Amino acid sequence: MKKILLIHGPNLNLLGKRNKKHYGDLTLKNIEDLVIEEATKSGIETETFQSNHEGKLIDWIQEHSESADGVVINPGALTHYSYALHDALVDTGLPCVEVHLSDVENREAWRRISVTAPACIAQISGKKELGYVEGFNLLIQKLMEHELN
Ligand code: DQA
Repeated sequence: MKKILLIHGPNLNLLGKRNKKHYGDLTLKNIEDLVIEEATKSGIETETFQSNHEGKLIDWIQEHSESADGVVINPGALTHYSYALHDALVDTGLPCVEVHLSDVENREAWRRISVTAPACIAQISGKKELGYVEGFNLLIQKLMEHELN
């Protein structure tokens, strides 16, 4: 069974309480459940993790990527400055998709910069929780193509 890692960075544990205009109404648990349900339909296992700490995210990625086939990550604000997280994603050797709930292109200028996106096959933003479903489907498609080749 293929396995996808669903990872969330700083402050995303507070989803549901954060600015709903940008991040929607769902809690992190709601989003994880939604993605797990969607992935299960395609016969994919999902492992989830959230941390407010860059090093903990990197430790977890290093520990879990060998037994995984892809990564969906919302790095939160680490997106905009964490070269260490970029490198950790590259080092997994896995296809990674970056998801943002909010429309990062149309907020503060500093949010337009993503140092982690170059480690990913796609960046999806501004679609709230639906961005995760899109990201998962994209990864699943990629994994299926890989299987056929
Ligand atoms: C976010 C966008 C980031 O700029 C912000 O720091 C977050 C959430 C998003 O999902 O829209 O914490 O990644």
